[in-house]
Amino acid sequence: METRRVQVAIVGAGPSGLLLGQLLHRAGIDNVIVEQRSAEYVLGRIRAGVLEQTTVDLLDEAGVAARLHREGLIHEGTQMAFGGKRYQINFRKLTGGKTVTVYGQTELTRDLMEVRQEEGAPTIYEALDVSVHGFDANPVVRFHKDGAEQEIGCDFIAGCDGYHGITRASVPAAAIRTFERVYPFGWLGLLSETPPVSEELIYCNHPRGFALCSMRSPTRSRYYVQCSLDEKAESWTDQMFWDELRRRVDPEAAETMVTGPSIEKSVAPLRSFVAEPMRFGKLFLAGDAAHIVPPTGAKGLNLAASDVGFLARALVEFYRDKSSAGLDRYSGRALCRIWKAERFSWWFTPLMHRIPEDVPRDVRARSSQLSWVGRSPSGGWPASTILSARRQLSWPVEAGEFIDGLSVFGCLFLSSFLNGCSASEARQAVGIDRGAVGKPRTPQGLSTGSSCGAGGLSTAGASGLRWWPVSLSSKTVALQT
Ligand code: FAD
Ligand code: DHB
Repeated sequence: METRRVQVAIVGAGPSGLLLGQLLHRAGIDNVIVEQRSAEYVLGRIRAGVLEQTTVDLLDEAGVAARLHREGLIHEGTQMAFGGKRYQINFRKLTGGKTVTVYGQTELTRDLMEVRQEEGAPTIYEALDVSVHGFDANPVVRFHKDGAEQEIGCDFIAGCDGYHGITRASVPAAAIRTFERVYPFGWLGLLSETPPVSEELIYCNHPRGFALCSMRSPTRSRYYVQCSLDEKAESWTDQMFWDELRRRVDPEAAETMVTGPSIEKSVAPLRSFVAEPMRFGKLFLAGDAAHIVPPTGAKGLNLAASDVGFLARALVEFYRDKSSAGLDRYSGRALCRIWKAERFSWWFTPLMHRIPEDVPRDVRARSSQLSWVGRSPSGGWPASTILSARRQLSWPVEAGEFIDGLSVFGCLFLSSFLNGCSASEARQAVGIDRGAVGKPRTPQGLSTGSSCGAGGLSTAGASGLRWWPVSLSSKTVALQT
């Protein structure tokens, strides 16, 4: 058996594994990536397209963002369509300057693979029967390559092997807690060499189901339609797809949309999933291996990048400063952010989709909620409310982190949430006592201050899931600007 030793063994060459590998390599930390598929297969998976500012910043730090800055499309906002009309959510205004960058996951993966190869950092593709052992004391990764067994001894293992990977599955059941929701529908995606229908993405809510108009470049479009879970991409001709998409978008988009042959078509399920904790001795989980959000909020890759940012810094701190403080905090910090994104996606996904089991009351309630989202950007004032409230209060922990943590998409939630509130009501609504600047008030007696430290459903997650919708229904409707 061939054996070798590295400081960090990374399982999985998706965006998480490759980005972690690059950040560690730049910091002089010796690492190897073990991937079960070929590089071509990994590059052939069409997935994410929207990168948030924090992800772009991290890619800059990793030294792999040159092409992204040349070719990526900066979007200042996004569009939402419902009831035959279109509305813009202006991220730049709502967040005080943040934007998103449209750049395909495939391109990002290619950039990371190329730099890794140029710099001579090792990746073992087509590794079979990958398994992890001894992560309580002496971690080892084993696999077969070209028929021979190989073993890598290491200080730490990073489990970046996605939702179906083996690292999470190798943890004893008693040591891990998982939370999961599978939505009763999927997304059928189509990629085509056609100019995008709009300069910004359009998220469409329609009685026939959700649709999304996205893009990869000024000449390449990516579209999605909500479909049933058992749908097969092969049973949809291109014409069927375009016809269905046209029915669901707003009239202007339907009229101006340029159609053409598909380059790729695939069905993706929608799932929310979190595993807690994200550290098991010397094994750390990152990205989809630990959590999944439904794609509606474009958060999965961005969360994966944020995990990797925390983990890379913690490992650098361990080797450079001989401190394990960052490693000890990793799981709590990552989960704090993850639950906020789960909360956002949990709210945004049902809002935008047709839910098969909905009764008419649910449909009405959803359409009423959508109308707040629609009114707020056109009224223009929630952005100023947020910003002026931010200026006046220098938002305390929970609210400030809510905005910064969720980045631009969080503001979509916030703008709908704040619509119709006066500034003081808005402050009250997000749990900030007017008379106690800097001191978060606790809605319904739930702890906010400790939630991030503890990291998990028990505080941040549970309070978020229960609290926000309750406040929305009871507070927002009757208030005015
Ligand atoms: P993965 O990309 O799943 O990579 C895991 C890697 O591990 C794979 O290469 C896999 O082959 C490998 N692996 C698995 N098992 C093993 C094993 N046993 N041994 C070795 N290697 C193994 N996110 C966004 O932020 N914005 C978006 O716009 C967005 N849109 C999306 C649209 C769709 C349709 C989908 C499906 C997802 C979207 N996402 C989006 C989510 C995003 O694609 C994922 O969150 C991201 O790919 C996670 O990266 P990862 O490296 O953690 O996992
Ligand atoms: C894309 C995917 C998403 O899930 C999303 O919310 C926005 C864009 C895309 O593939 O372009």
